[in-house]
Amino acid sequence: MDIINTYEPTPTQKIAHGHAHRYKLFGGAMGGGKSRWLCEEAKELSMQYPGNRGVLCRYHLTDFKNSTLKTLLECFPPELIVGHNQSEHLITLVNGSEIIYLGMSEEENVSKLKSMELGWFGIDEASEVSKGHFLLFQSRLRRRLPSGVFPSYYGLLTSNPEDCWLKDDFVLQGGGDDYIFIPSLPRDNPFLPEDYEAQLRKTYPEEWVKRFLEGSWDELSRGNTVIPSDWIRAAINREIVKEDKKIIASDIARFGDDEIVIQYGEGNALKEQDIAYKQSLMETVGRLIVKSKAKNVKLIVIDDVGVGGGVTDALKEQGAIVLPINAGSRSDDERFFNLKSQMWWYAREQFEQGKVSIINEPKLIRQLGSINYHYRSNGKIMVEPKVETKKRLGQSPDRADAFVMLLWGARSLQDEARDYRRIVTMEDLVRDDYGWGINQGIPESAIPWEY
Ligand SMILES: Nc1ncnc2c1ncn2[C@@H]1O[C@H](COP(=O)(O)OP(=O)(O)O)[C@@H](O)[C@H]1O
Ligand SMILES: [Mg+2]
Repeated sequence: MDIINTYEPTPTQKIAHGHAHRYKLFGGAMGGGKSRWLCEEAKELSMQYPGNRGVLCRYHLTDFKNSTLKTLLECFPPELIVGHNQSEHLITLVNGSEIIYLGMSEEENVSKLKSMELGWFGIDEASEVSKGHFLLFQSRLRRRLPSGVFPSYYGLLTSNPEDCWLKDDFVLQGGGDDYIFIPSLPRDNPFLPEDYEAQLRKTYPEEWVKRFLEGSWDELSRGNTVIPSDWIRAAINREIVKEDKKIIASDIARFGDDEIVIQYGEGNALKEQDIAYKQSLMETVGRLIVKSKAKNVKLIVIDDVGVGGGVTDALKEQGAIVLPINAGSRSDDERFFNLKSQMWWYAREQFEQGKVSIINEPKLIRQLGSINYHYRSNGKIMVEPKVETKKRLGQSPDRADAFVMLLWGARSLQDEARDYRRIVTMEDLVRDDYGWGINQGIPESAIPWEY
């Protein structure tokens, strides 16, 4: 059978293919061609040894299916594949070799592995996977081929720089002679768009660039403050350009320990903050309506998750224009893990540019300065989940959350005095090109997440 192989490795991929070490980490920056390399290795080992069997995995099976599996199937000309059992996650090749794919987050898959005999394994984005699982894989490398001989065994890994066991074992060479680390960078990959790197440099913070573009494993700080405290201090009672954007933001709670926060602002300027505890939702709705009428506000931004949903509905019934926020939903900007991360990042930029004014309120100030972010293994910016903040701060950062929503709401609001667009209805006052439409509730794409 004549198979035309269209794969031409980049020079760095070629080096990584060439190493004969048992455990190889092809690690470095985003877009360096790591996943493609991994899938090509899988193809090579499957084709070279008829009847071979290997496992390809990522931590989450959904991530695997959305990315690595697509790359894998692109690597194989269709005539090489005789079967793809999607429920068994098994790809069978013309020469009898098998590739099984898994998500390591599922315990039953891990148990299945314990009884498998493999010729190779591949872990994409290996920083997501524990060292324990890597060691389990190692112990499975003992397959005997149908011909009776043993193939050369390989464990193949890819990862962006991440502060984890990969750094110790591969990058710092603590794993021994069987281990090798081969760096990969986007600039080594001629198949990327010419301005790929330049575009990313423009929009990401410096330490992100070091890590995900320059592939540096040196400074992998985990916690970074989203809004540095000196930017917050500088915003206290700052005079900023007055905007005709009267807005209320509210973080809702009911009978719990958390506060019910109602903030009133004009554009990016926080003017008033009311705090209440243990009120019924209807009391909260009442307070919101009274306040919004007294101030003549254009928009009420509500944390719509959990009990907030009821408040949103009740406010809408009374004719208020509401922007319901589900912070755990997907972001429309690929830099961010979720909407919460995107909103906090927007707040950060507003503080950085000196466009924010806040009242001198110690608890709000402390909360704003206490939220950290880190990078997911795929390079997305992720603002920490609330439970992490709570653990460190000893309180729920409700006031800061409300203010971040207020800024986000102000972003979507037009200033009548400055905007010459014709305004037809109240809804027109609100642009909805961020997130989703006003008064539409939670979008289908919303994903459940303990943010
Ligand atoms: N040797 C190659 N030939 C053609 N395209 C390639 C090659 N290596 C990588 N690519 C392409 O470059 C892009 C980035 O590669 P990928 O393997 O996804 O990078 P990484 O996993 O390091 O982020 C993908 O679109 C991939 O198809
Ligand atoms: Mg990849």
